[in-house]
Amino acid sequence: MADTEKRMIPISLPSTGQEEWEAMREPIFSGWITQGPKVNEFEKLFAKRHNVKHAIAVSNCTTALHMALVAVGVGVGDEVIVPAFTWVSTANAVMYCGATPIFCDVDTKTFNINLEELKKKITKKTKAIIPVHLFGLCADIDSIKKISGNIPLIEDGACAAGAGLNGNPAGSLGDIGCFSFHPRKSVTTGEGGMLTTNNYALAEKLNMLRNHGASISEEQRHHGPKPYILPAFDMVGYNYRMTDLQGAMGVVQIKKLDTFIDERQIWADYYTAQLASIPWLTTPQVASGYKHGWQSYVLFVDEKISPMKRNDIMENLQQKGISTRPGTHAVHMLGFYANTFGIKPLDYPGAYAANEYSISIPLHNRMVKEDFEYVVAALKSIK
Ligand SMILES: Cc1ncc(COP(=O)(O)O)c(C=O)c1O
Repeated sequence: MADTEKRMIPISLPSTGQEEWEAMREPIFSGWITQGPKVNEFEKLFAKRHNVKHAIAVSNCTTALHMALVAVGVGVGDEVIVPAFTWVSTANAVMYCGATPIFCDVDTKTFNINLEELKKKITKKTKAIIPVHLFGLCADIDSIKKISGNIPLIEDGACAAGAGLNGNPAGSLGDIGCFSFHPRKSVTTGEGGMLTTNNYALAEKLNMLRNHGASISEEQRHHGPKPYILPAFDMVGYNYRMTDLQGAMGVVQIKKLDTFIDERQIWADYYTAQLASIPWLTTPQVASGYKHGWQSYVLFVDEKISPMKRNDIMENLQQKGISTRPGTHAVHMLGFYANTFGIKPLDYPGAYAANEYSISIPLHNRMVKEDFEYVVAALKSIK
């Protein structure tokens, strides 16, 4: 280790600064602060980067997931298959629709949905499947499509902006893609989300759903010939709009996405090479054809041979100023889902293991070489 002095390394830190600050001046001074021209510009750039015809910005990825489910017709009595190891909102969005989340186990090599298990979960009631591209690694959508037939696929790409599979970007792989711009993601707008689709009818519906069900946006009405005529409201919609302040920030951030991912790829490779000598750690596996978005770098601890338990390793690193987290949580083990559906932790052994033994270590674009060296040295010193 080049530098032995204690460092403080957060698990994540957004890369925002002067440019984002300056971009946000425009909506502040123009007075158009709600969804408007900046959101439009952000959507166009996001759609282009993700090779889709339509991108619809919203308030966060949870609202994106909710709208996506409503748009494909999920309602009371329907089943929606979700991985058991994901952020809670993948399942919560299903609950918002009055539908039932059907958990599916994950593969601990990828932390993504397990295809053999998925085959067993599909029933006549399955109205949609939400494969999650966890930590920025795409789920194997090509194989999922062979299993799912005509069932709508909603990609939870919260962590996967800029990721891809066989040359196709996340968000262009299923029927609808959902993304997050929470500050722990590679690009951020504070809070924020995006829906992507190539289907015009779905895009039209999503456009209305995010804006109370109104047939046209406020910007279109205000700048149209008859701003005093209120639009038609032919469906129950939501107010899930993104503000133009966020849109302005998004325009700046999306242009940096590939630079951020390229940098993260370099440091992910560094971690993988350096940590290979630790027998009790498994580093992330990226099969050929996958472009990882590296929202997080997540290790798996083999407690049978590790000198300490996973939580003690996290405590040890915390003492050294290194912030870590479990990869995410097993949703079937969370109080609400365990109690409501009577699920036991080991009903989903892959998700259970991921919940108990995964560790996300810091990987973000504000880290310098010495930070990465420090993290590696700290892990190697655990004996
Ligand atoms: C897999 C996954 N889905 C959904 C979400 C929700 O995103 P948001 O915070 O933008 O609502 C997250 C957030 O971390 C996530 O990791």
